[in-house]
Formats: sequence, C-alpha cells, structure tokens
Amino acid sequence: NDTTPFTLVLFGAAGDLARRRLVPSLYALWCDGALPEHWQLLGVSRSALTSDEWRAELADALEGEVADDFLARVGYVSADATDPQALGSLRERLEGQRCIFYLATRADLYAGITRALEEAGLISGQSRMVLEKPIGLDYASAEAIETSVRGCFDERQIFRIDHYLGKETVQNLLVLRFANSIFESQWNHRYIDHIQITIAESGSVAGRGAFYDEVGALRDMVQNHLLQLLCMTAMEPPNTLDADAVRDEKVKVLRALRPMEITTIAEEVVRGQYTAGANGEAGYTEDAGVRDSATETFVAMRVAIDNWRWAGVPFYLRTGKRLPERTCEIVVHFRPVPHSIFPQQRASMANRLVFRLQPDEGIQLSFSEKRPGAAMDIRMSELSLNPQTLRRERAPDAYERLLSDVIQDNQTLFVRHDELMAAWDWVDPILQNWRDSGVRPEPYRAGTWGPSAATMLLARDGRLWDERETDDAPDG
Ligand code: BG6
Repeated sequence: NDTTPFTLVLFGAAGDLARRRLVPSLYALWCDGALPEHWQLLGVSRSALTSDEWRAELADALEGEVADDFLARVGYVSADATDPQALGSLRERLEGQRCIFYLATRADLYAGITRALEEAGLISGQSRMVLEKPIGLDYASAEAIETSVRGCFDERQIFRIDHYLGKETVQNLLVLRFANSIFESQWNHRYIDHIQITIAESGSVAGRGAFYDEVGALRDMVQNHLLQLLCMTAMEPPNTLDADAVRDEKVKVLRALRPMEITTIAEEVVRGQYTAGANGEAGYTEDAGVRDSATETFVAMRVAIDNWRWAGVPFYLRTGKRLPERTCEIVVHFRPVPHSIFPQQRASMANRLVFRLQPDEGIQLSFSEKRPGAAMDIRMSELSLNPQTLRRERAPDAYERLLSDVIQDNQTLFVRHDELMAAWDWVDPILQNWRDSGVRPEPYRAGTWGPSAATMLLARDGRLWDERETDDAPDG
C-alpha cells in the first residue's frame, strides 16, 4: 500500500457528485483505515463558501456522527478554477505535496482548469489528474480536451473515471471469466445466442436538468458505462491484470464494434424521452425545467462485434431514466440445445448466465431441471453464487474502490486515452445522425420500459428483453 501523503484538490466541490458520492467515499475509506496517515482534502469551486460552511455541508451529507478528525483535514477555497491567478494563491499551500486534482466539474472547463494549473505552476511529476465522464460531447470536443490535458500530464498521470468499473460485480466478471475454465470454452458464437446489457434507472433527471439536457442518455450512459460493460463481457483474456494489458483488450473490442451506418441507425438504435407517468410522475421537460427538448432519456440498440469470437452474436444494450425499476444486469443467453427430446422444452428455456450489478449484486446460472413427480416435466431453476460470499456488511460504493486506486496509483480500472477516443469514434455517427436528421426521441410513459420500438428491436429477431414480467412469456 502506498502510504505517501496526498492532497486531494477537488474541483466542483460544491456540486452534486462531490457531496453525494466523492466525499462520502473518501470518508468511508478513512473510516476503514484505508487512507495513508497524512492526507488532506481541498475543495475548490466558485460558490462563495468558507471552509467552515463547506465542512458543515459535508457533515450534513455524511451519515451518522462525522468524526471531527475527518473534517479537520478538509478545507475549501472559493475560486474560478480556470483563472491562473486564483489558483496561484494555492501554490504555497500545495508546495511539495503529492496533488491529486479531481475534476468533478462540467467537462467544458477541463481544458481551462488544466491550463490554469499549469500556468499557476501547480503541476509536477507526482501530480495526478482525475477526470469525470462524459469527457466531451462528441469526438471533436473530447479530442480538444484530451489535447489540453495530455499537453500537461503524461498518460500515466491521468485517471479517467468510469465508476461502473469500480462496481464489485464488474470485477467479479473478470474473475468468473478468467479464473474458471468452464466458462471460457463456452464464451463465443458457438454457444452464446445473444447478450443483453441493461442499466435501468427508476429515477428522473430532476435536480440536474441543466446538465442532462445538453448531454442525454447516449453520452451520459452509453458512450461510457454501457460500452465498458460490453468490453468487460466481450474482451479476450488479457495476459496479466496490468493496466495496459487489460486496456489493450478493451480497445480491441471497441475497435471491432461494427460502425453504425447512416442508413441503419434508425433501425438499430431506439431513442426515447419519458412523458408524464400514470401515477402522476412528471414528464422529462418538466423535470429538466425546459420548455421543449429533443434530448433522449432512453436508448436501446443492437450492436455487432466484428471479430472471430462474436461473429453473428448480437449485443442488445439499453438504458433509461424513469423505467419501472433500478436494475443493472448483463445477461448471457446461451443457445438452446440442438435437439430437444423433451416436449415441454421451449427455446426460451435455454441456459442464461446473469451478472447482476444492481440493486443487489449476484451471479445466477439458470438451467433446466426435472420437475419432481411422475411425469417427465421440466422447469427452469437457478444456481446462485452463494449470496453469503457476495453479501458484505456494507456494499462499498464504486467510488471508494476507484479513489483508493488513484491514491495507490493503479490505472487498471480507468479508461485510457485510445479507449476513450475509440468509444467516441463509434458513438459519433449516431449523434451526428440524430442532429442532422432532426428526428425526435419517441415518447414513453414514465414507469414503463421505454418506447415500443425497443421491444420491436428484439422482437424482430424473435427475442425478448429480460424483464421479470416477461419471464414466462411464450418464446418468440
Ligand atoms: C452517472 C450518470 O454516470 O451514472 C447518471 O451521469 C446516472 O445519470 C448514474 O444516474 C448511475 O450510476 P449508479 O452507480 O447509480 O448506477
């Protein structure tokens, strides 16, 4: 463990992410004794707060009685972070420290903040730079940000966060795939029919409408979280767990994604926006506080990976706000048996391996078994990874793992430059098409599983989304 003291300089300190997730994660690490002995947190943001006021805000946001020792290490500076002079005033305070600059601000400030840090003379070889997603709004803006940041920091100093990589089950996916021999032989087009990845949220965008309306679900969830889950599921075994070995394999997957052609986007990608729900839930425009908007809050898509392993295996991805429940699952659907001798066996009774990330974590393998009794009836049954082994006293937030990795200087769970650009490269034509065609998202009622076109996306392939309601539906 790296016990070198550090100073976490948190830009965007007065924002939602800092209060809801970053500081609580740091606090949890501290409570667990997982931080080096000497460290401090310096919040920076434009909001006119004093250190005492910020400490009081944090104490409110943290659960339980917050230790004074923790708050004593916390300070706050109100400043325009893109102003080198304002940052210059921190020089004395940060002199000789191992600084971790964490940008939890809007991405269009990243270049300006980097420049200001450089001009204020705050960057050294031991500094680290942590960037929140989405980095940019498209390929060109991402490239511009990257050029500025990479002009001042080496790649080994840059930690691009995708907090889904910090989730326990995502790492367990690596272990399950690469520490067991039984799965690897099945993990290809010969045995797998298709894969579904869903990140469903029941929550709305209320409270962050201004940010969200500019971004939308494709940039907020697909370009990063969903593609990362896809990479972890589809990648080849890396040679080692080294940061670059793992990331090399993920980049290969991103580069193998079949590009979306202008002519096929309308067919392969469904875009939705929620409207008022049956139980009085507000619609998107009301939640976001905008009069009219073509921003999507739902995306479903069929993705092909053009390589040997995955030829002909569709990956169906979907994500949305205001869906019926908060779930995140990767479901691997195996092919049905080539010839069934059981009259009751339906194609939908093929084996399924489910990696569930949310709301609880777990792994289940579903398979057919005999229903007890005289008849030769079969039914689906589930083998669950012993929940005891997964259930911990407290499920650590993904940010705890990732913050700890930044402090330990381990980049394995962070996105590399070429990976980021490959993801934007693939997403860009979709954005461009939406922009150029002026096509508006299809409405769906809050509390439903998105527009009917999302159901059709699978139905036309004779498949169904994995939803609890449809588990017993007749197979397509
Ligand atoms: C963030 C998105 O990256 O992930 C949010 O900006 C989304 O819109 C969130 O709600 C979901 O994260 P989690 O960990 O709560 O599933």
